Amino acid sequence: MRADGRTLLLPAWRHGRVGRAKQPAALPRGLPGAHRRGPLHLRDGSSNVGGCARDRARRCGGHATTVGGHRLRLGGELLSDNDSVTLTINGREVAAEPGRLLIDVAEELGVFVPRFCYHPGMKPVAVCRMCLVQIEGQRKLQPACSTPVADGMVVNTQEAGAVDAQEGMLEFLLINHPLDCPICDRGGECPLQDQTYKHGPGSSRYVEPKRTYEKALEISDLVVLDRERCVLCWRCVRFSDEIAGDAFIQLVDRGPGTQILTFNDEPFDSYFSGNTIQICPVGALTSKPYRFVARPWDLKSAPSVCSYCSVGCPITNESRDEKLVRCQALPNENVNDFWICDKGRFGYHYVDSDERLTAPLERGANDEFQDVSWDHALERVAAKLRDGARVGVIAGGHLTTEDAWAIGKLAKNVIGTRDVDSRVADAGAPYADVMISGLSPAAGSSATINDLATARTIVWMGPDPKEALPVLYLKLRGAVLDHNAKLIVVSPRRLSLDGFATHVVRSEAGGEARAVDELMSSPAADDIGDPMVICWGPSSPGRDDAGVVAALGRLGAARDAKVLMCPPHSGSQGLLDMGVHPSLDAGHETAAEPGRDTRAILQAAADGRLDVLLLFGADVIADFPDADLAGRALGGGAHVVTVELFPTETATRSDVLLPSAAFAEREGTFTNLERRIQKLEPLLEAPGVAREPWRICVALARLLGDDWGWHSFVDVWNDIRSNVRTHTEVDIDALSARGPTPAPQYESGYEKDPSHSGGVVAGPGGQYPKGYRSGTPFQTGQNWPLSWELRGFEARQRPGIVAGTPNGARPSPSGSTTSTGSAAPDGESADGFVLYAGRMIYDEGTMISKSTALRHIARRPFVELNEEDAKELELSEGDEAVVRANGTEARLEVRLADIARGAVFIPYDQKGFRANTLTSAPRVTLARDL
Ligand code: SF4
Ligand code: SF4
Ligand code: FES
Repeated sequence: MRADGRTLLLPAWRHGRVGRAKQPAALPRGLPGAHRRGPLHLRDGSSNVGGCARDRARRCGGHATTVGGHRLRLGGELLSDNDSVTLTINGREVAAEPGRLLIDVAEELGVFVPRFCYHPGMKPVAVCRMCLVQIEGQRKLQPACSTPVADGMVVNTQEAGAVDAQEGMLEFLLINHPLDCPICDRGGECPLQDQTYKHGPGSSRYVEPKRTYEKALEISDLVVLDRERCVLCWRCVRFSDEIAGDAFIQLVDRGPGTQILTFNDEPFDSYFSGNTIQICPVGALTSKPYRFVARPWDLKSAPSVCSYCSVGCPITNESRDEKLVRCQALPNENVNDFWICDKGRFGYHYVDSDERLTAPLERGANDEFQDVSWDHALERVAAKLRDGARVGVIAGGHLTTEDAWAIGKLAKNVIGTRDVDSRVADAGAPYADVMISGLSPAAGSSATINDLATARTIVWMGPDPKEALPVLYLKLRGAVLDHNAKLIVVSPRRLSLDGFATHVVRSEAGGEARAVDELMSSPAADDIGDPMVICWGPSSPGRDDAGVVAALGRLGAARDAKVLMCPPHSGSQGLLDMGVHPSLDAGHETAAEPGRDTRAILQAAADGRLDVLLLFGADVIADFPDADLAGRALGGGAHVVTVELFPTETATRSDVLLPSAAFAEREGTFTNLERRIQKLEPLLEAPGVAREPWRICVALARLLGDDWGWHSFVDVWNDIRSNVRTHTEVDIDALSARGPTPAPQYESGYEKDPSHSGGVVAGPGGQYPKGYRSGTPFQTGQNWPLSWELRGFEARQRPGIVAGTPNGARPSPSGSTTSTGSAAPDGESADGFVLYAGRMIYDEGTMISKSTALRHIARRPFVELNEEDAKELELSEGDEAVVRANGTEARLEVRLADIARGAVFIPYDQKGFRANTLTSAPRVTLARDL
C-alpha cells in the first residue's frame, strides 16, 4: 500500500496473494511471489477512496448548488452542514458529500476533467495523469480522479499549469500512438481522439520512429488486441481482476516496454471479456465480430434489454444498413452497473439470421410447408380453436410481458382453457411455492439486486450464476468482496461462487432441502446475520425444488429474510406476473381452478387428449427436460401451431408456423428477476411479415369473437394496468424516462443542444447515443461524434420500474407447499447416480447457435462425477463413459469434479448432445466405454 493510502494496482510481476478473489489458475505460471509478507489488501474497501458506482450514487444526492445562501441538492433538498463539504471549482462553489471524488463532483458541476484511467465503475488508480488539476495550497498538481473532496478546497482545472500538464500528457501518449484513426474501429468514438481534439497540443514535436508491435493479436475468439494503440490506462486489467475476477489480461514488462498481454498466449477466456472492449479508451481492444463492420456515424441505435437471461441487462442495439451489428452495455446502477456478459454482447446475430421465419407457413397435403397469408393462417388456426376444442398453451421464456398478457388472456378468457404454462426448460419449477412458503408476497423476488450489497448474509441455492445469470454473478462477487456480505452456498457440486463464498455447504445428492434445514445448526450459523437475502433458482429438472423452497421458507421466516428468485430467461418473470401458469392468474392471484402444467399438457397431447397445441416460442423438443415425451406430444394427433423465430425441430413438426418478431424489432418490456420492468425500443423492421406474438393473439381473439381493441404497445399496457392489480401503478412513460438529469459530459466543441432545456450536451442524436432520438442515422459532417463511452453516460440510466406486490405484506407461512414439479417417474430405481443437469453460458440453444460469434464456443459434452465414484467405476479424467437412462445412452467425456458422491452433472445442449434425452430420468447409470 502506498504511503498516501491510495490504492495502487500492481502489475502482474508484483502480484502475490491479492485477496480471496484471486483465481490461482488465472495467474501466470512461474510468477515470483510477493516481496512482502502477508496479503496486499488491494480490495480492502477501507482503502477505496472512490468506491463503486453504486456507492457513489448512494452517497451522492446529485448536483448541489447554492441558492439564496442555502446549499441545495438538485431537486431542492436542503443540505445540512453535517452531510456535505463545500468546495470551489473554477470559481463556483459546490456542496458535495465528503469522500466523493473531485472528478465526479466537477463533472456534476459541468466541468469535464479529461481522463483515461478513471472509470466510474472501478476503483481509481490515477496512473494516466490526464486529470491533473490545480488545488490551492498543494505544491503539485493533483489527479482529480483519486482526490476526495474536502471542505474549503479551491480547485482550478483551467489553471495554466493544469492545462499544460493535460496537453503534455496527451503529447506524451501520442508519441507512440499509431496514426491508425482512419482504419481503427474506435475512430469517431474514441476518447483519445476527442480529448486530443479538445485538450491536445495540436501538433507533435516527436520525429523519432514510433514503437511498434505485431498488430491485431487475436487474444480470444471475441477480442483482438493492438498493443500499439494502448495508452496503458489499466482499465482492462482492473476490470478483469477487480470486477470479473478473471485476471487473464495483465500488464507485462517494464518501462517503455510495458504492454498489455495475456500470459503464455493463453486466450482471454472470460465470460465478461467484451466489457474491456467497451471501456478501453482507444482502439487497443476491439471486437472481432465488429471489426471493420461499421463506423460510428453509420450506426443507428436504440436502447433495449438483453433477451437472454433473467438479469435483464440494459443494452443498446446498433444497426447498419438495417442489420444489427453491435450490442453494448448501457449503465443501470440498479441492474448491471456498467457491465454485460459476452453472451448478451455477442449473441445478437440470430436476429439477422437468414434462417428466420418470414411468412406464415402451413403444412400442405403432401406434408410440405407452403407460404400462406396471415388471414389464411389465422383463420385456419381459429377454426381449430372453435367449438370447445381441447387446447393446451405453452409459452417459452423469451417473450415480452405484453406477449405474456395477451397469451394468458387468449387462453383463459377467449379459448377458455386453464392448461397454460410458461415453464419449459424449467418445467416444474415451483415458483408459486415462493409465495406459498411465505418467502415473498409474490411469485417472485421480494429483494432487489442491490439488496445484495447491503445484505449481511446471502444464501445461494440455485444454478451456477456465472453460467446461467452472469451479471448476477458479478453482483454477488461485489457484495462479498466490496461490501463484506457473508455468502453461504448450498450445492451438491462446486459452483463458481465457491471461490469467494464464506461457507460452502456441499449437500448430498438430493439432500439440498435437508442441508438448508440444518444450516442454522452448522458452522455457517456463526456467520449468519441480518439482513439476509436468500437467492433461489431452479437448479435442475427432476430435483426436489419444492422441498428446497419449503426449507428456504422456514429459514426465511426465522430470519425475516428477503428472497431473490432467479428464473432462467428474460421473459420468465413477466410470464409469471401475467398468469401464464396453470395455478396462478395475472397479478400472482391463485387460480380458482388450476390447469395442467407443461408436462401434463404434453402428456395429454401425447395421449391424444388435446385437439390443439399452441406453442409460443416454445421449442419443447430441444428444451423440455423430457425430449421423448415432447416428441410424442407433437405426434399425438393434436393440431400443432407454433409461433417462432426459426424453423426449430419443434416448429418443423407443427401444422402451422407463424413468424415472430425478435427483440430488436419491437417495442415491449421484459421483467427481470427482481421484477423490474424495462423497455425495449424497436430498431429494425421484422423480416418479411413477422409480427409480435401479442398481435397474433389479438387477431386470433378477434376471429374468435372478442375484439380487445389493441393496436399499439400503449393499448396493451392500458389493459394490463386496468386488470392486473400489481401493475396498476406502472407508468409506461416513465419506462422511457432517463434517470436524474445528466451532467454535461464532455464539451469537445459542442454547443448545448438548444432543443433540450435540461442542459444536455448535444452529441449526434442528443439524448441517446448515435441518433436514437431522431430515429435517423447520424450523418457525417453533421456533428463530430462524442466518444461512445461518454455518450453511454450521457444516455444515462433508464431505471425501469419494479411492479407492486399482491398484498405488500409477507403472508404467514402456511407450512404446506405444493409441487408442480416433474416428479420422479413411478418405480424409480435407487440404482445409479442422481442426475443434475444445467445450462452453460454457451450452448447450442436456438438463438445462440445462430450467433456466428458464439456458436463455436460451446464445449464438448461431458459428465462430471466425484473422484471416488470414478475410481469405483475405473474411470479417469478424459475417459469416455457410457451414460444410460430410460433406454437412452450417450458417450460423454468424464470430468472429475468437486461434486457430492452419488451425483453426476451433465450440461445441456453442448456440441451435438441434448441432455434432455436423459433428464426424464432422475437417475442415470455410468459405465466405462469398452
Ligand atoms: S488495452 Fe485499452 S483498456 Fe487496456 S490498458 Fe491499453 S488502453 Fe487501457
Ligand atoms: S447477464 Fe443475462 S441479461 Fe445480462 S447480458 Fe448476460 S445474458 Fe444478457
Ligand atoms: S484519469 Fe486521473 S490519473 Fe488517469
